Amino acid sequence: MAVARNDARSADVLVLFGITGDLAHKLVLPALYQLTQRNELTVPLIGVALTDLDTDGLRHHVAESVEQALGSAADADVLARMLGRIDLVAGDYDDPAVFTRLAQAVTAAAGPDAFLVAYLAIPPSLFGTVADGLAGAGLNDRTRLVVEKPFGRDLASAQALDARLRRHYPEDRIFRVDHFLGKEPVEDLLVLRFANALFEALWNREWIHHFEITMAEDFDVSDRGSFYDAVGTVRDVVQNHLLQVLAYLLMDSPLSDAADDQRDAKHRLLRAIRTVDPGEVVRGRYDGYTDTPSVAPGSTTETYVALTLHVDDWRWAGVPVYLRAGKALPRTLLDLVAVLRPPPRALFTGGVHPRPDLVRLRLQPDAGVTLTLLAKRPGDQDIPVPVPITVAFRQVLGPMQSAYERIFADALRGDPAHFARMDNLEEAWRIVGPILDSPEPPLVYPRGSWGPQAAATLPGPQGWVELPKPET
Ligand code: BG6
Repeated sequence: MAVARNDARSADVLVLFGITGDLAHKLVLPALYQLTQRNELTVPLIGVALTDLDTDGLRHHVAESVEQALGSAADADVLARMLGRIDLVAGDYDDPAVFTRLAQAVTAAAGPDAFLVAYLAIPPSLFGTVADGLAGAGLNDRTRLVVEKPFGRDLASAQALDARLRRHYPEDRIFRVDHFLGKEPVEDLLVLRFANALFEALWNREWIHHFEITMAEDFDVSDRGSFYDAVGTVRDVVQNHLLQVLAYLLMDSPLSDAADDQRDAKHRLLRAIRTVDPGEVVRGRYDGYTDTPSVAPGSTTETYVALTLHVDDWRWAGVPVYLRAGKALPRTLLDLVAVLRPPPRALFTGGVHPRPDLVRLRLQPDAGVTLTLLAKRPGDQDIPVPVPITVAFRQVLGPMQSAYERIFADALRGDPAHFARMDNLEEAWRIVGPILDSPEPPLVYPRGSWGPQAAATLPGPQGWVELPKPET
């Protein structure tokens, strides 16, 4: 894959800030184990954290994380190889001595000119401190900075954070993580749309009536009350994950598969999305949310949102996109449905159009495609009934890598295609700007329901299209 316009130098050392944190424990360390197993991670790993552990203690902690995630599938030799490459620099990120010690550890592990990939799996309030600390130790010119989400709380704070990082790092060495961009089914949207002739022929206002996008999670905020209450659904999954997915779903073809061509195409699409009108939004909160530990009294944070997006470009003018996302819903899934326009005449149903054809791109949990077509019900009359034509990619293509494996592999070798470019991110903040921090309390919905009743008819009186049964 072409990455010519970026600094594509491969890492000589991986530095993981927040190695003892929750994200590292649950997702990052298991992914690094998988990369070690496939020999895609062969460089030293230096963890940085405010911790009482020593290097042996850290190795023990890493082994536990891997074993918890993989169980008996963890191979002792691979784990030993991974642990043998781990070192620790402990201390407070505010202390410049930490970065001096880090520079020494880098030199000892990979030489004085080593190129670093510094992965910041830490609270966003510390991104600037760490970026400055690396620069203070003279490491910034040979560091690719990989920052976790959220990148800002709104457009202004994202721009301020970016300005701070840009003091020491050029855009092409700042990789902003959106782990949905590392998901195979998300990347597959590009392949499905542009490797097949079938989709492109349909994918416009002549054929598609509207889109319905559902990201549902059947679990609640659980022990993440303090994080989630400051964030809410729009910031947590809409501004980042779902707008990135939407860009792949609706953008024009990129000039090539190169990272910046893809991101240029996404940028053009995002620019065409109208800033959300708060009058076209339903905000919800599941019953009992305010009893969650660390949720502020009087909180107005939403755990559900449904909204209408309008894309003011040639391809999509007049084709609304209805999007909903929430926690404590009946199922966990990410589903993108194109609802097709009816044929010119309803020949078989007395002039009344039957249910529309659907193209359903199922991203989670079982990635695949379902086309819902109408076929004749056996019998003496021509009665059309919906029949699904469905494929589950795992069954035909085999297992997929996790998002974090893709993200780390790409960060290590310097491929920016699956990271958010700043101009894309700015458009995303602009789109959701008017619906951040609403002072109105959201509508309460029962746990296990599809959200507030007020959202049920957002796509029209017929409601949302029925969701498919889980794959068995
Ligand atoms: C995270 C959000 O970014 O994405 C979570 O903070 C959400 O609230 C998660 O549950 C969903 O990601 P995945 O990969 O589990 O579908």
